[in-house]
Amino acid sequence: MIRFPSAPGARVLAFLVLLVSLPALAAPGRVAVSSAHELATAAGLEIFEQGGNAFDAAVAVSAALAVVEPASSGIGGGGFWLLHRPEDDFSTMVDGRETAPAAATRDMYLDDDGEVVRDLAINGPLAAGIPGAPAAWVHLADRYGTLPLAQLLGPAIRLAEEGFPVDSKYQTLLNFRAHIMLRWPDTAEIFMPGGDIPELGAIIRQPELANTLRALAEQGFDGFYRGPVAEKLVAGANAEGGIWSLDDLAAYEVVEREVIRTSYRGHELITASPPSSGGIAIAQILNLVEPYDLAAMSRVERVHLLSEAMRRAYRDRALYLGDPDFVEIPTDMLLSPHYAAGLRAGIRMDRATPSAALAADPSLLPESDNTTHFSLMDGDGNLVSATLTINLPYGAAYVPPGTGVLLNNEMDDFSAAPGVPNEYGLIGFEANAIEPGKRMLSSMTPTIVQSPERVAVLGTPGGARIITMVLLGVLDFIDGNDPASWVSLPRFHHQYQPDEISLERGFLTEEEIAELEALGHEVTVRARTWGNMHGVMWDRVNDRVEAAHDPRWDSGGAEVRDSR
Ligand code: GLY
Repeated sequence: MIRFPSAPGARVLAFLVLLVSLPALAAPGRVAVSSAHELATAAGLEIFEQGGNAFDAAVAVSAALAVVEPASSGIGGGGFWLLHRPEDDFSTMVDGRETAPAAATRDMYLDDDGEVVRDLAINGPLAAGIPGAPAAWVHLADRYGTLPLAQLLGPAIRLAEEGFPVDSKYQTLLNFRAHIMLRWPDTAEIFMPGGDIPELGAIIRQPELANTLRALAEQGFDGFYRGPVAEKLVAGANAEGGIWSLDDLAAYEVVEREVIRTSYRGHELITASPPSSGGIAIAQILNLVEPYDLAAMSRVERVHLLSEAMRRAYRDRALYLGDPDFVEIPTDMLLSPHYAAGLRAGIRMDRATPSAALAADPSLLPESDNTTHFSLMDGDGNLVSATLTINLPYGAAYVPPGTGVLLNNEMDDFSAAPGVPNEYGLIGFEANAIEPGKRMLSSMTPTIVQSPERVAVLGTPGGARIITMVLLGVLDFIDGNDPASWVSLPRFHHQYQPDEISLERGFLTEEEIAELEALGHEVTVRARTWGNMHGVMWDRVNDRVEAAHDPRWDSGGAEVRDSR
């Protein structure tokens, strides 16, 4: 499926030789969890207390996030779980991405004039792909865990039943979607009782979700994808314009994907493979900038160079990437050093390349803090980097009656029409066109970086910006910094179209922005921050384990404890 070019492969081999030639390094002996919600972090720690490994804890954290961070991920969504087991140097990506229902068609969001009807693509059940998250939890528990699924789902069931307190992130993200959710009063009643945004500290209970989680805990895959829950999901989705069938649910399959590996300045990256675009894009950017000495550059030079590399990688994302089970992705070409050299030859340090000079089409970009990420490690050094989503905040904003399952609106990650931007301003063409059973292209980029001395686990939500945030975090780690630094770094982003560098406020001075503009860049300073990065680090040399959550939101939880 994914093939790897020989040169990066050789670099990985060199890294492994270096690793095994070092004196044996002790296991961390501590566990670490960093997630977007302190109650989800506590769920992971609870499973560690009960003797679970990192993969057990990943199921518990994922399921707890589905309950306490309903804006960002859930049992009605999907995700990618990147796993690493040092014992046998095994890595894999568990792909629980949603799929298009069998009745989906390429032009299902187009009106009679061939224009995309945005409302259908993002609101209500026609926007929902077939969920992959619950199947992935079952798969993780069965194949990699040590404790029963019912035990791993215990904290989530408790949180759904007893409730959790509303925080400012819950309120902020609900503000974006409340007017849509109010179209379906039964759904609104769950998340905004009485039709209002709940007060800080108000308790949200989800008894129907607790029942659905219990069915999954008791029956595994069949508890969600067949039988009464599946019947209610299909009936509820189709009553409001959906096109789901019982066969769509029963046919859902988790896929294990070979990870993308690349190396940069003596570090090995293990990262997300298609249907994520993130790993290939990050590998392309690192290949492009590797010959430059970033540390010796001014901030303006560094932002310019990285933006030029980002621009080119996002152009290729639009042109080439999609579900690898449906399209032939030219991975060898995209990751080859020769291709990088060709792209590099077009970069000038004294002038921006207009995106229009690199063939494809325009778009626009809103900020996005939906989706969620967690990073964790157990006492044996097993690692999980997982990014999960229901797409926009609160997904499709619709819960099929009696299920508690908030549906995703992941179908919008397909290209609804060639070159027409989705909600993130991302464009795509044939490779990411809608087809029955196909997985929509994603930007989610769970990542692990290793050197003989240090290990980093990181990732973030943030739609189209995920890739560049993870890139900046990786570079900061490789510069020698700790998780608290990666997660709080000021961010900048370029995604080919729109042809602009966007900056978080306060990152660059007016003079530096003027210098970038003089190079030909359009620079936009955004009012809002973006992302919600969660990182864990093991420093093998200094015997340090650290975890940090993004300071941009106050709900995150990051903890390190001695392992049992
Ligand atoms: N739904 C956002 C992504 O998968 O990139």
